[in-house]
Amino acid sequence: MKLKICARRGGGAHGGNMFDLRDVPVSRIPVVNVATVPQRSPLRYPGGKTWLIPHIREWLGNSGPDSLIEPFAGGGTVSLTGVMENLVSTALMIEIDPKVAAFWRSVLEHGTILKERILQFEPTIERLREIERSTPSCVLENGFRTLVLNRTRRGGILAKGASFTRRGENGKGVVSRWYPETLADRLAAIQDHAARISFTEGDALNLLPALLRGRGGNAAVFIDPPYTAGGGKRAGSRLYDHSFVDHGALFSMMADYRPNFMMTYDAAPEIVELARKHGFHAAALSMKNGHHNRIAELVITPAPIFV
Ligand SMILES: C[S@@+](CC[C@H](N)C(=O)[O-])C[C@H]1O[C@@H](n2cnc3c(N)ncnc32)[C@H](O)[C@@H]1O
Repeated sequence: MKLKICARRGGGAHGGNMFDLRDVPVSRIPVVNVATVPQRSPLRYPGGKTWLIPHIREWLGNSGPDSLIEPFAGGGTVSLTGVMENLVSTALMIEIDPKVAAFWRSVLEHGTILKERILQFEPTIERLREIERSTPSCVLENGFRTLVLNRTRRGGILAKGASFTRRGENGKGVVSRWYPETLADRLAAIQDHAARISFTEGDALNLLPALLRGRGGNAAVFIDPPYTAGGGKRAGSRLYDHSFVDHGALFSMMADYRPNFMMTYDAAPEIVELARKHGFHAAALSMKNGHHNRIAELVITPAPIFV
């Protein structure tokens, strides 16, 4: 397979010898078209991992953990899939962004009212601008605001400065991705499993150590932190209001506690270097990009399960 080089060998921003991405073995599991995987999250999250679901099924299916922890939950696709496909008994989602946290709390605690709110809402650009300017004080309204902005802003971006979609899907404009019935169906499916899903708002790096100590070897941890290869801080902050994570500390934590984890990262030599430093295994996921296969993403696990 011909792989386009995404980074040069040699010293990089971190100094020393960078690993060449061509040395990373390619995962034997193909990346799927997202249309072939059930869409379970009501959010169209930037950096969402629906396309990674076959890897998730293989990882959880083979290791059979009791529970799943998703410390950078965002749209929560992996937790929803894990629970709904009975790959795990329970899932705990953690998210630091209060807007996203309000959404998950309203889904899990006020699902029925949220569903009604969605079905009754008549979106117009004036109404959307009003919602955008609002600062709701109750969880339900805050969560509804998050959903509305996520479905009507370009790329689903919730970060400050994001703008509404102009052309939208098939030129249908700002409401082109507001599908009330579909969203209500997804909420109903989540409600059916809500007793097995929990949510905590907070900083994953602070919360994880106690969780890993408490659950020992029975929890699997899916880690998808904000990271944009080569783009630095600005690229990350365009997508998320909370885009800074100490990746070195996160890798060290996985090395110290050694849980059954799977991390996913934009392909970058610095990340391969961190994985190798701790004896983890990186597999590259290649995606077709014009005539080339481009390494777009890395999955990192304690054992070489994908190659
Ligand atoms: C790449 S996105 C996750 C996407 C998710 N896997 C999905 O499928 O939708 C990263 C998420 O981590 C959140 N985040 C950033 N720093 C965090 C932290 N310290 N603790 C918890 N969540 C954090 C961001 O707000 C963002 O929602």
